[in-house]
Amino acid sequence: MKNVSAIKELHQERTGALPALFIAPGRVNLIGEHTDYADGFVMPAAIDFATIAAISPRRDGQAVIYSRNFDETVSRPIAEVGSRGAHHWSDYPLGVLATLLEESIAVPGFDLTLYGDVPLGAGLSSSASIEVASMMAMLHLAGTSLLPEKVAQLCQRAENDYVGAPCGIMDQFVSCCGAEDHALLLDCRSLEYRLAPVPKHLSLVICNSMVKHSHAGGEYITRRAEVEEGTAILRRHRPEVRLLRDATMEDLQQWGHEMPPNVLKRCRHIITENARTVAAAEALEANDLSLLGRLMAEAHASYRDDFEASCREADILVDLAMKQPGCIGARLTGGGFGGCTVNLVESERAEDFASTMAEGYQEATGIHPEIYLSRASAGAHAVEEPARAGRE
Ligand code: GLA
Repeated sequence: MKNVSAIKELHQERTGALPALFIAPGRVNLIGEHTDYADGFVMPAAIDFATIAAISPRRDGQAVIYSRNFDETVSRPIAEVGSRGAHHWSDYPLGVLATLLEESIAVPGFDLTLYGDVPLGAGLSSSASIEVASMMAMLHLAGTSLLPEKVAQLCQRAENDYVGAPCGIMDQFVSCCGAEDHALLLDCRSLEYRLAPVPKHLSLVICNSMVKHSHAGGEYITRRAEVEEGTAILRRHRPEVRLLRDATMEDLQQWGHEMPPNVLKRCRHIITENARTVAAAEALEANDLSLLGRLMAEAHASYRDDFEASCREADILVDLAMKQPGCIGARLTGGGFGGCTVNLVESERAEDFASTMAEGYQEATGIHPEIYLSRASAGAHAVEEPARAGRE
């Protein structure tokens, strides 16, 4: 992200104070969809679209938050942050603040300037990047730090409890722990992870269908409920099935007939997706790119047919991608029902791939897609430590 000094200057103009700066990336998920809240496996990568947070202290106990994206300021006495959001962009930083206070971390009054270039509502985790950047900034001001894994857990809690979106841990985790040129295989139960290098000759090409989605409502919640319904049925027979991570295809063969057909399909997606994700990480580590591509194709088919979380536009993007030379794998990434596809493409073909995709998609749908040539990037970090943050 190129705008760090612009955000620093903007913050200084607004407040007269020299800020401390933090940056936290969005993500693409290569494989492992809707498996995180089932304690399963995911393999995302942080991307080079991110949120920058600039922070400096105030003496009056107010949280004053300015979003450059929305060109709007929200002020609140720290003590009155409350425990529930108001369906507003400020829910994310305020939710983070509320969560830190709950953890007895004394965040003093502050001015916070936020700017991000992660496309909003596109399935690239703009929310997680805002949460993580805000939390790093507030921790700095409180004079403390936490392990990245803990920051991820607290940001997830902020999103679940304050924002009201029942997401899993994947987005916040990779925003905290991602590494340059690596994908991250995460065990969402133990939170153990390993980093697998993305081969140098491959690019992450992200195709935005421009179909918007929202996690705070609708389909994401319905899917989680269906998954929980299926889990409860299996648990009646095998009490050790706490979440679908613990279930097998044999369980489904034995007791799936007790489930409504849609519930059976949702569970089948998650159980097979967990196996595919672990296999995909091994394929990436072994540099077996044709296997990786095949697993991504199977994952997309399962997401489309069993989880029913794709949409016509995303299917068109994936079908088009698979026909292009140099495309290793393609699938819809993120929460589903719109957003972006992730494509692993040989770097020397990436530009051609992008223009052919744009043309083909426009022709098929009448929609002009946005296409981003990205790469696996570092997780959240401080950008620049000022000698002295504070009012002059
Ligand atoms: C969203 C959620 C994640 C995860 C994905 C689906 O991005 O925030 O926790 O559940 O959807 O894999």
